[in-house]
Amino acid sequence: MWKKQRKILNHSFSQKRIDSYSRVFIDEAESLAYRLSKLVVRRNRDVQNVVLTCFTNTICRTLFDVKYEMDIETHVKELDRLLGNVARRGVRWFSHWSTPTSSVTEEFEKSWSYGKQIGGDIISEKRRQLAEIKELTEVGIDLERTKETFMLDNILERPEFTDQRAMSELLLFIIAGSETSSSTLLFTFIALAIYPDIQERLYEDVVKVCGLDGPVTLEHLSHVEYVERVIKETLRIFAVAPILGRYIQEDLDIGDMVLPKGSTVFLNVIHTHRNAKYWPDPLKFDPDRFLQKNASKIVPFSFIPFSHGFRNCIGHKYAMTSLKITLITIIRKVKIFTAYKTIGEVRVKSHFTLRPMMGWKLWFEARS
Ligand code: HEM
Repeated sequence: MWKKQRKILNHSFSQKRIDSYSRVFIDEAESLAYRLSKLVVRRNRDVQNVVLTCFTNTICRTLFDVKYEMDIETHVKELDRLLGNVARRGVRWFSHWSTPTSSVTEEFEKSWSYGKQIGGDIISEKRRQLAEIKELTEVGIDLERTKETFMLDNILERPEFTDQRAMSELLLFIIAGSETSSSTLLFTFIALAIYPDIQERLYEDVVKVCGLDGPVTLEHLSHVEYVERVIKETLRIFAVAPILGRYIQEDLDIGDMVLPKGSTVFLNVIHTHRNAKYWPDPLKFDPDRFLQKNASKIVPFSFIPFSHGFRNCIGHKYAMTSLKITLITIIRKVKIFTAYKTIGEVRVKSHFTLRPMMGWKLWFEARS
């Protein structure tokens, strides 16, 4: 069943579809760059809120074709509660999973109800749109042929997705798509601010290819090769999905031992990405590790920010394109600063996704 559903969803992540989302990526990135340049207060919460708004809007517009006006303060608070509960539920799997009345389960249900509310609003809006198209088609105006099919249209119209399944998918995409991209961009800001020479090099490369003004195009992306390396190096040091879990369905021989059927294993991605055996001087932020000529030095599976295999990230290419466009747009408009002096100072915790324990500590100045 999962395979069949993923096949349907894959359609929305082909290169052609991702390219067609670029005008939304650019639009939201420009609005984010403007808002960051105007942020006068240096509060962690403000920075995180504007970045998360950008990526949540992007997901809603590209995958659902719905503009959802949310109250960002409530959204961040409830999302934090939900992710904290998911993380606790994962970590305390063994002690709480089978106890439905436990406080963890009750808390989880409470935070889930916010998710159901925004999911319900988005689905109602989409059903209204679909009904309108149907009405127009019935009176001979054929919008169906000219209109692109968005991921949510597909989910609501296919029998493979029950109502409950549709709701879960929608929330999964909002959470998995916005929280990960937004934290990756914020960690990139921290790294660039700690290494001002790398920030300036990126700025110069971007201006050389894209100029000082005007929208970034897909054509530009292939020429600003440094931006991809900067994002990959951020994902290495700050793997925003730091721990992955797998349920073992059959006894699995991994050489040194057999993982018994029925057990749950956790893969420590962040530890692998920071292991000196694979990445010398692991806390040094060095985008050139990902230069083409160094590719042969990268040990297979030592870099897995998007996981690997069947259950890898469906939004991998989407995320890289949207992050590249957003970073290019922002670096042209603002200089980034942080109170952190070294990467080692940025202590991290897993709040389902990776977070800095002491906050983002970022501020921005508009470039003249
Ligand atoms: C930097 C950004 C991102 C990172 C690092 C990331 C990372 C990951 C990882 C590691 C997984 C696999 C989890 C596992 O193996 O248990 C995953 C799954 C997933 N991601 Fe992403 N992701 C990112 C952005 C996105 C975006 C932008 C979207 C949607 C547009 C997205 C949608 C999903 C979905 C739906 C899944 C579940 C896939 C499935 O089980 O079939 N992700 N992501």
